[in-house]
Amino acid sequence: MKERILVTGGTGYIGSHTVVELQNAGYDVVIVDNLSNSRADVVDNIEKITGIRPAFEKVDCLDFAGMDTVFAKYDDIKAIIHFAASKAVGESVQKPLLYYRNNIGSLINMLELMPKYKVEGIVFSSSCTVYGQPDVLPVTEKAPIKKAESPYGNTKQINEEIIRDTVASGAPVSAILLRYFNPIGAHPSALLGELPNGVPQNLVPYITQTAIGIREKLSVFGDDYNTPDGSCIRDFINVVDLAKAHVVAIRRILEHKQKEKVEVFNIGTGRGLSVLELINAFEKATGVKLNYQIVGRRIGDIEKVWANPELANKELGWKAETSTEDTLLSAWNWQLKLRERGIQ
Ligand code: UD1
Repeated sequence: MKERILVTGGTGYIGSHTVVELQNAGYDVVIVDNLSNSRADVVDNIEKITGIRPAFEKVDCLDFAGMDTVFAKYDDIKAIIHFAASKAVGESVQKPLLYYRNNIGSLINMLELMPKYKVEGIVFSSSCTVYGQPDVLPVTEKAPIKKAESPYGNTKQINEEIIRDTVASGAPVSAILLRYFNPIGAHPSALLGELPNGVPQNLVPYITQTAIGIREKLSVFGDDYNTPDGSCIRDFINVVDLAKAHVVAIRRILEHKQKEKVEVFNIGTGRGLSVLELINAFEKATGVKLNYQIVGRRIGDIEKVWANPELANKELGWKAETSTEDTLLSAWNWQLKLRERGIQ
């Protein structure tokens, strides 16, 4: 019988790609999402790709009773992948309490309900933001946690601690914390991708919206950083590759292969690319010329960060595979498809 996995935030950007990979790997999926930052038709598109319609429950993870009902209805959930969270760095500075309530409250609900329903494990969406500006690059999981630059980043740090404390207290739960670097791209089918609410804050959606003419010009935030071309450096990871990391993490939990009850893995490519290099790569991959200008630095930006993904390579047997070119092309095809569908 297929093992059932609960995916919170499963209609979101990373969540939806992960549901596809879980189903492709033979898992049964229940999605819980409040649709606050995603569309219900994502479920249709997951079905188009995989031929399987995942169960979907429109519930807010902050609603304890609602979540209790979900666990009671699907009483054989083996593990959770917890994506559901607010994720806009700038908004978190404006509305810190919203971020603390949403991101921390929903995790606490999961951890409280897991023992009651004998759910063994949780995979948590963490971020390289916990490292701040690392002293040593590429950054390993052993690097110190730096003071968070935003309430959003702080919720990732606090949630990691909440999971550690819960497991240390003897709760019958184990966890894998995946620290994502910068997820970009879309599903090769162009049926799933990133759907920003309003003006995109992240680089690639801004690039594709500029390329298609929704935005007039991309602003490159700073060219006076201590990097070869002066722009910031990031580790851009393909979203399908990232999704696959969740499948191996789930398998590791369910097959009791963990070496510790809480494990942490960097999920990145191991390669740093500057903002200007990414823009060039986009133009080369798509043949579309991008209108951009250099402007001042954005407050709170890290100068450079990229992953040492060796632990994930070795322990999870996972590796980023997709080229930057194919990834940027997938983001562009997704943007074209959105236009075709009259969405953006
Ligand atoms: C941020 C968060 C990260 C979070 C991610 C997703 C921090 C330090 N990082 O990543 O934890 O998971 O958002 O929400 O909080 N850029 C431009 N022009 C633009 C947009 C971006 O030049 O219009 C540049 C930025 O200055 C940065 C790079 O592109 O150097 C990447 O920016 P972005 O996509 O927003 O991701 P991060 O800030 O790295």
